[in-house]
Amino acid sequence: MRILRLLIIVLSLSYNTLHAQSTIPFAQKSSAAFSKVSVDSLQYIYSENDGLIEEINTFNLFLKNAKHAELVVKSSKQYAIVLLLNDNLNEEEYKIELLGNNILLSGKKSGIFYGLMSIFQWMTQAADKQKIVLRNDIHDYPAFGWRGMHLDVSRHFFPTGFIKKYIDILAMHKMNTFHWHLTDDQGWRIEIKKYPLLAQIGSKRRETIFEKNFDPYIGDNRPVEGYYTQDQIADVIKYAALRHITVVPEIEMPGHAQAALAAYPEYSCNKEQKEVLTKWGVSEQVFCSDEKTISFLKEILDEVMALFPSPYIHIGGDEVPKASWKGCAVCQQNIKQHKLKDEHELQSYFIRQMDDYITSKGRKLIGWDEILEGGLADNAAVMSWRGEEGGIAAAKQKHKVVMSPGSHCYFDHYQSKSNTEPLAIGGFSPIEKVYSYNPLPASLNEEEQKYIMGAQGNVWTEYMQVSSQVEYMAVPRICALAEVLWTGAQKPGFDSFKNRLRSHFNTLDSYQILSAKTIFDVSADSKKIGAKIEVKLLSHFNQGKIHYTLDGNAPTAASTVYNAAKPIIVEKNTTVKAQYFEKGKPLGTMLTSEHFIKE
Ligand code: ACM
Ligand code: ZN
Repeated sequence: MRILRLLIIVLSLSYNTLHAQSTIPFAQKSSAAFSKVSVDSLQYIYSENDGLIEEINTFNLFLKNAKHAELVVKSSKQYAIVLLLNDNLNEEEYKIELLGNNILLSGKKSGIFYGLMSIFQWMTQAADKQKIVLRNDIHDYPAFGWRGMHLDVSRHFFPTGFIKKYIDILAMHKMNTFHWHLTDDQGWRIEIKKYPLLAQIGSKRRETIFEKNFDPYIGDNRPVEGYYTQDQIADVIKYAALRHITVVPEIEMPGHAQAALAAYPEYSCNKEQKEVLTKWGVSEQVFCSDEKTISFLKEILDEVMALFPSPYIHIGGDEVPKASWKGCAVCQQNIKQHKLKDEHELQSYFIRQMDDYITSKGRKLIGWDEILEGGLADNAAVMSWRGEEGGIAAAKQKHKVVMSPGSHCYFDHYQSKSNTEPLAIGGFSPIEKVYSYNPLPASLNEEEQKYIMGAQGNVWTEYMQVSSQVEYMAVPRICALAEVLWTGAQKPGFDSFKNRLRSHFNTLDSYQILSAKTIFDVSADSKKIGAKIEVKLLSHFNQGKIHYTLDGNAPTAASTVYNAAKPIIVEKNTTVKAQYFEKGKPLGTMLTSEHFIKE
């Protein structure tokens, strides 16, 4: 008996060290029992039902992009991944059972797709494809219905090829909403047939501010331009739908409108001809509240709603400077005529008209949390970005909410303190912070929490000129957010996540996604002790070693090994350079940490 138990322990240990397959996001429920499967044996797929061919084809495209052999559709279920439509399961829910030589996957179409995304991760994450270990039973479903990622294509334009890759990145992490930020002061990026100058003029920026040279302003003298035709957008929407992703368009109003007003200055208060903004920040040039402008915006929304089937239409609503309305006779007349208190109520009046219009078309309006100011329109949902307060207030008023606070969900923030990070807008939101996020504020009771649809990661691209940098900023923070949103309260913790991320990097690498490996960066924690400074070096991982130098040279595998029990004591001006190594190989970026001692 004892020997048997020992054998089981040894076997399960070796299974664990083999490669216990896992997914990001982590599955809600899985059995403790394991089976050993070789990835190379997964060659065939069989469907019990017609109607799953699109899921199979899409899955094969994922494999192809990851340089993995595609699965062959088989007419018998022997030695195959078997798909089975099961209408008793909820949307997005799926079950996987290992039965003999089959992997049996059941669910509705969306569930089947997510099960296939789990299998995709298994097939591409193992370094050694011969030996993978799978849990025998998985029952998986999402905690939240809005699992979103945003992308700003106004500040920099990205072609549809990249938009599709971004959608793939969302899909492989079981995210289901792509928020496409199409218009802003610095560029209008969607063709509107009735108003062709929006694309012809609004999509072209003469140049862009160089880095952060606001004052004095320095431009880079390089034009930025680009917009999506309606045909291209329809193609992206179709592509996303095959990956069970809803595309939510954002058309900014009444602020962030300078690019639109560069094309049609008659819809501003002062009618002044401005150029598409070349620097970052918020333009004072906003849409007027006159009837002509409201009609213009409704006509734009008509084309947008005809193109995008999403239930929600995002109208922006954030950061609206009130100066131009203050100096506009028509806007002031509107305030008087509609018995509004001030310009904040005029903003609310503006949004209410859009809300009524969008609602009359069978859709729902969503906007940034400033739409709360001056009173929330009847049917509006709120995207909370200036912290969670807006989302909390909206939920208490029984309005739907998407949480996207800057503290945890802004992936344009820095993710590492390393001075080799690319220039970013500011902030610091490392992956462990994203992972710690809980979209359900404790200050809401259970009933109020039901209004929180989920959360979203935002990628503003002021400082991201190329798509690979978007990937670097979004991934792997998206992996952490996906687990927050899919696994929810059942998420197993950052230690589990960071270890799964190690093999998940193989999947991301196979897809040629440029993910940040900053999780391997060493950080320093220093404190003054009398005239000296104690420097502790920290790593997320303890499989390897931190090597460091104090002589200014880059550490190698031969440099001093950091011992956590004996922090470094600095007695004179010193540069500590440190790096994490595994099996003699450096991972992450080198830390350079300067310490100054007053003589
Ligand atoms: C925002 O970040 N201005 C919504
Ligand atoms: Zn006006």
